[in-house]
Amino acid sequence: MKKVIVTGGAGFIGSNFVHYVVNHHPEVHITVLDKLTYAGNRANLAKLPAERVKLVVGDIADAKLVDSLAKDVDTVVHYAAESHNDNSLEDPYPFVQTNLIGTYTLIEACRKYDVRFHHVSTDEVYGDLPLREDLPGKGIGVGEKFTDQAPYNPSSPYSSTKAGSDLLVKAWVRSFGLRATISNCSNNYGPYQHIEKFIPRQITNILSGIRPKLYGDGKNVRDWIHTNDHSSGVWTILTKGKIGETYLIGADGEEDNKTVLALILKLMGEAPDAFDHVNNRAGHDLRYAIDSTKLREELGWTPQFINFRDGLKATIKWYKNNRTWWEAKKKEVEENYAKNGQ
Ligand code: NAD
Ligand code: DAU
Repeated sequence: MKKVIVTGGAGFIGSNFVHYVVNHHPEVHITVLDKLTYAGNRANLAKLPAERVKLVVGDIADAKLVDSLAKDVDTVVHYAAESHNDNSLEDPYPFVQTNLIGTYTLIEACRKYDVRFHHVSTDEVYGDLPLREDLPGKGIGVGEKFTDQAPYNPSSPYSSTKAGSDLLVKAWVRSFGLRATISNCSNNYGPYQHIEKFIPRQITNILSGIRPKLYGDGKNVRDWIHTNDHSSGVWTILTKGKIGETYLIGADGEEDNKTVLALILKLMGEAPDAFDHVNNRAGHDLRYAIDSTKLREELGWTPQFINFRDGLKATIKWYKNNRTWWEAKKKEVEENYAKNGQ
């Protein structure tokens, strides 16, 4: 792997992956293809050397542009997506366009030029799991965690379009011999995450003098992984993964939203009850949990950032130290949430 396109490389997880590759793999040159939607930000790549990372501003659904870039590279790592569930409930169209047509456009170009393709996807394609308290035997046994054998059962326009994009990739592997792998990862946290998402929203609320907002009763569980561990997982699959396989990436980080918020409040010196309960999300998935045994045992991957408290502390510090990165967006994000009573 020498010449790599990273789609969505100016977004949260994509830009962290670009940083990871620049820091660990000096032989790789990266072209970031990113439309710079509301979620993309040039500043996420600003500190990287121009001779290693080039940004092309464009749409992954632009077949002509994608063709012109794909013919000169050996690998495409595909992060670009509309990624926020709440937005998909307001307007699904961009999700269908980018997540489905965009992915289709990329895999067509990769099949034409026989480019290695890695598709970055989400655990949400599997739907949700019952809360552990509702499982027989308190969560021991069948259905405890997702594996790559779990049936697809997405809940939202976001997760259904991601599920559709996974299925396109699987079909292109089987019918056209596309050299592709897929990863489905759980909830990421870390620097450069857009402030519409749960953890940065609450941190920047507190930093702005706004009370944090918890959907519903806060019992919903997410399986948190530091974005650097996601990056090393994707790199491991790219370099050691078997073509046609799906690998689940997760770091055993299950926490309910109430507990995460309580930790943020504590780490930021706020009272435990200094938050508001707000309207729940429609169709709100109850619990996600990843069984990453396949990635760990077959490819030898291990997550490094497994102390959630420390990771959260560092993330809070990042948002404190980088106010100019998020402050201008705060008012609009909160006004949009307020329209839905959130
Ligand atoms: P993000 O919203 O922060 O970033 C998405 C990036 O894609 C932005 O830079 C945006 O400008 C770009 N983009 C959007 N539409 C585009 C288009 N049509 N053409 C080119 N670029 C476009 O998203 P994220 O949270 O960094 O997620 C990245 C990927 O990882 C997504 O595929 C998402 O489904 C997946 N994923 C996310 C998580 C998570 O916790 N955030 C977990 C598992 C998987
Ligand atoms: O599981 C992987 C997925 O994780 C990714 O595929 C998505 O791209 C990513 O956005 C994330 O989806 P979630 O919907 O789980 O993330 P979000 O940050 O929106 O919400 C996390 C949990 O917190 C969820 O249960 C809803 C809740 N929530 C969210 C917000 C924004 C709140 O309680 N309050 C909030 O203000």
